[in-house]
Amino acid sequence: MSVGTSRTPQEYEILTGGGAEAAEMQRKGLTRRQVLRRAVGITLGVAALEGTYGALTMLYPNLTGQFGSAITLSPKEKYVASGQREVALDQKGIFYESKAKAYIMHLNDVQFLMSGTKLQVFLNSESWTKDADGTYWLALYQVCVHLGCKVPYRDDCDSFKCPCHGSHYNVDGEYLDGPAPRSLDRFSLSFQSGNVVVDTGKLNQHVERPDPTTRMLPVPPQPCSAA
Ligand code: FES
Repeated sequence: MSVGTSRTPQEYEILTGGGAEAAEMQRKGLTRRQVLRRAVGITLGVAALEGTYGALTMLYPNLTGQFGSAITLSPKEKYVASGQREVALDQKGIFYESKAKAYIMHLNDVQFLMSGTKLQVFLNSESWTKDADGTYWLALYQVCVHLGCKVPYRDDCDSFKCPCHGSHYNVDGEYLDGPAPRSLDRFSLSFQSGNVVVDTGKLNQHVERPDPTTRMLPVPPQPCSAA
């Protein structure tokens, strides 16, 4: 059977019972070796592209909405503000958000130990967010900056106390005592369409241990025993 050059590979296959490869060879005047070389080249090219895509996916994973990216939490109303001494975990003042691995602090009537330009500088450098109603917010990363244990908030201490080696942090994450080298790390916090948004891809790890001239909030008066 003769093969017309106008037939497609699929037509040829039906007419002759042969393969599309033979039709393509016939149509383009290629040798079998040339066709095989092209097939191998295409296969290797596809494999290389898949490998490159896989590597890029590992390096730049799609974290949208997951830890490591900006996470939209609940509406602001959930996080009821309180004074520094009236905080009750998950009821007012401090709320744990497992999705963001963070404590959301929301304080009103804040009695800062500094004022003016100095206060503003510290608010900025320590990732505080001031709301339009005059309250203050923070998103504190749950990890102890000593050796990485999860730090619980203790209502009985008005502060965070690490169960591993006793590092102790004020309600705003400021270092109080213990082996921790600095205050708790914090994420940037903002508001979007009435919701609280914590950017877990931006961690502020530069809040030093305060001294009496740089401390922002009063120290809780009561001692805090080991858990
Ligand atoms: S890990 Fe928290 S004090 Fe050591």
